[in-house]
Amino acid sequence: MGMLITGIGELVTCDDTLDGADHSESLGILRDAAVIVGRDPETNESSVQWVGLAAKAPAADWAIELGGHAVLPGFVDSHSHLVFAGDRSAEFAARMTGQSYDGGGIATTVAATRAASDDQLRTLLRARADEMRSQGTTTVEIKSGYGLTVHDETRMLRLASEITTEVTYLGGHVVPPGTASGERSAYVDLVTREMLAAALPYAKWIDVFCEPASPHAFDAEESRQILSAGVAAGLGVRVHGNQLAPGPGVQLAVEFGAASVDHCTYLSSSDVDALVGAQETTVATLLPGVEFSTRSPFADARALLDAGVSVALATDCNPGTCYSTSMPFVIALAVREMGMTPAQAVRAATLNAAKALRRNDIGVVRVGSRADLAVLDAPSYLHLPYRPGVPIAKALEV
Ligand code: NIG
Ligand code: FE
Repeated sequence: MGMLITGIGELVTCDDTLDGADHSESLGILRDAAVIVGRDPETNESSVQWVGLAAKAPAADWAIELGGHAVLPGFVDSHSHLVFAGDRSAEFAARMTGQSYDGGGIATTVAATRAASDDQLRTLLRARADEMRSQGTTTVEIKSGYGLTVHDETRMLRLASEITTEVTYLGGHVVPPGTASGERSAYVDLVTREMLAAALPYAKWIDVFCEPASPHAFDAEESRQILSAGVAAGLGVRVHGNQLAPGPGVQLAVEFGAASVDHCTYLSSSDVDALVGAQETTVATLLPGVEFSTRSPFADARALLDAGVSVALATDCNPGTCYSTSMPFVIALAVREMGMTPAQAVRAATLNAAKALRRNDIGVVRVGSRADLAVLDAPSYLHLPYRPGVPIAKALEV
């Protein structure tokens, strides 16, 4: 039966119910552990069949020995914009010398993405997805949002669906460059009707860049219209909120029962209260790579965690505000810059990120979960923030 993975010096399961595990840091840690994974011949999906101490492992068809390395659930990167063409490194350099970010650079990426062929976009997308996997990420959510026409948004969603089932329609990213102020509502109508209908075969989620502080993004009323249409069409809700300034994004996300509200860089105490009230429903997904790459203040992770909010971490990999595919980098930032403990950061990048996608089959190592595992070239998960910039994590190929 299946493959025995043994010689796991430290197994982070994120399973709060696992007998005999160390639950002191809420990571469900087993030492000197083993896992058996098996493939369903009908679906070709691999799942976990057994978890326990290596000394008690049953026989399996074959085995791999990890020599004491740490294993954890593969990272769940619940927020990315991986489908794009073009280069905005000069915009990053300008920010490092003091220029601020307001979303205006998105126009550059929209032009380059529209001009790229499907094959060109696919090649770029696959390289980024491979880069993620090579750093331990086993699930990625991918948004559209650099097409902003029915044709180009649909193309982005179709390409994203070749990589993941976690596909998000973000026609409501910005109003297309060149839109006159009197034509904003016509664009919102397009997003909520024809473009939405074209997105439905591919998308599971709808998202909106709710940011009245940006002239390019959407205010509360426009965002409400966009999300309402998505909900009516059967999509789950995610929100980009409170990235550039205090604003209505968090409260709107809670109002819609969103699975996640992402960024949360500028929060008021009533935003935190709203998230506390919605802790079973709405995850606060923090994106510290964005603060790093835009020189913004880091989100107040401690206020959220201390209040009991579910906090996830993701890269937001995109060409404007964070061109990094690395969840280990994000974990290191969360620990160093936002005061999260290493255990809280790892849980946020796995179990809580899975919750942000309403998934209970990933982000955890337990019997029946997907066999999505990451292995570290290190004895402990503590090495993720302890060895920043060193490629110690990779997805375990089983
Ligand atoms: O999540 N804030 C909106 N969208 C992206 C950035 C997009 C871009 O600048 O290309 C984000 O930060
Ligand atoms: Fe984003």
